Amino acid sequence: RSLREVKIVEVGPRDGLQNEKTIVPTQVKIDFINQLSQTGLKSIEVTSFVSPRWVPQMGDNTEVFKAIDKHPEVSYPVLVPNTLGLESAIAVGVKEIAVFISASEGFSKKNTNCSIEEGLKRTKKVISAAREHNIKVRGYVSCVVGCPYDGFIKPSDVARLTESLLNLGCYEISLGDTIGVGTKTSIQNVIKRVLAIGSASQIAIHCHDTYGQALVNICTALDGGVRVVDSSVSGLGGCPYAKGASGNVATEDLVYMLHGLGVNTGVDLNRLIDVGQFISKAIGRSTGSKVNEAMYKK
Ligand code: HMG
Ligand code: MG
Repeated sequence: RSLREVKIVEVGPRDGLQNEKTIVPTQVKIDFINQLSQTGLKSIEVTSFVSPRWVPQMGDNTEVFKAIDKHPEVSYPVLVPNTLGLESAIAVGVKEIAVFISASEGFSKKNTNCSIEEGLKRTKKVISAAREHNIKVRGYVSCVVGCPYDGFIKPSDVARLTESLLNLGCYEISLGDTIGVGTKTSIQNVIKRVLAIGSASQIAIHCHDTYGQALVNICTALDGGVRVVDSSVSGLGGCPYAKGASGNVATEDLVYMLHGLGVNTGVDLNRLIDVGQFISKAIGRSTGSKVNEAMYKK
């Protein structure tokens, strides 16, 4: 497929905020998501229905999901780890969920308190129950190139888990470089291996920018035919259970790069810059996006 259009999945309200130590007021989250809905983004991951003991920041998932404006052309997926989370998501009328599996045993244990195989069993139950309720399911495979606990991850393991999640009924798998250690070569190797089992239209890329390689790695995935990219406005984010993980690639930087390539994203960059400023100020830090810094009119 030629590179005309790329879909961006904004994960700032979930991946971005989950790592904030100080609880962000629910109303700020709601305002943040409502502003994102007006930028032209087509998918916004808004919260997670994980255990509030594990991630207290997402403890207001029900309130947030209920209160946000839902634009008919925008999807509002939520992250779900188990059937308990799915039940809560169903109770508030969620139409799309994201499930997650790690390609490394170490991160699986730290993040979900179970092995990869147990995680797959849990996920299988979640996916089949979700499908009975006509809920769309997206899948994540984490630590696709490296793990903070186990080190290097084999592309063949990533491909095997991607295949399992596709077979269980996920419509798309997002390959997560959770700690941002990927390079052009390692991402190329993973993409090549994954595309041997699935088509590029079923794959998305999810890069954290810890080592400043995210845009290069995304370009590499685009060269491989991937057309869906995850990002967080102003580069918010990280995972509380992945030591050293920093934020996702900033959505502003991603949009600027894609528009420079002549790719249509449907996103209004100026509006996005205002949203990045809003949330950065609300959590008391400066934007993590270079494009935002350069373009914001103070
Ligand atoms: P556990 O402690 O083994 O589970 O956690 P449990 O079944 O023993 O339950 C413990 C307590 O949590 C119980 O409460 C449950 O009811 C409750 P208690 O009886 O002690 O009062 N509980 C729940 N409450 C609400 N909603 C739920 C839920 N589940 C259990 N869904 C579990 C296992 C999977 C639940 C836990 O480890 C967990 O929630 N982990 C999620 C951690 C997380 O959110 N990590 C960040 C997201 S993943 C990520 O960021 C990577 C990604 O961005 C991609 C990438 O970058 O690669 C997606
Ligand atoms: Mg992530």
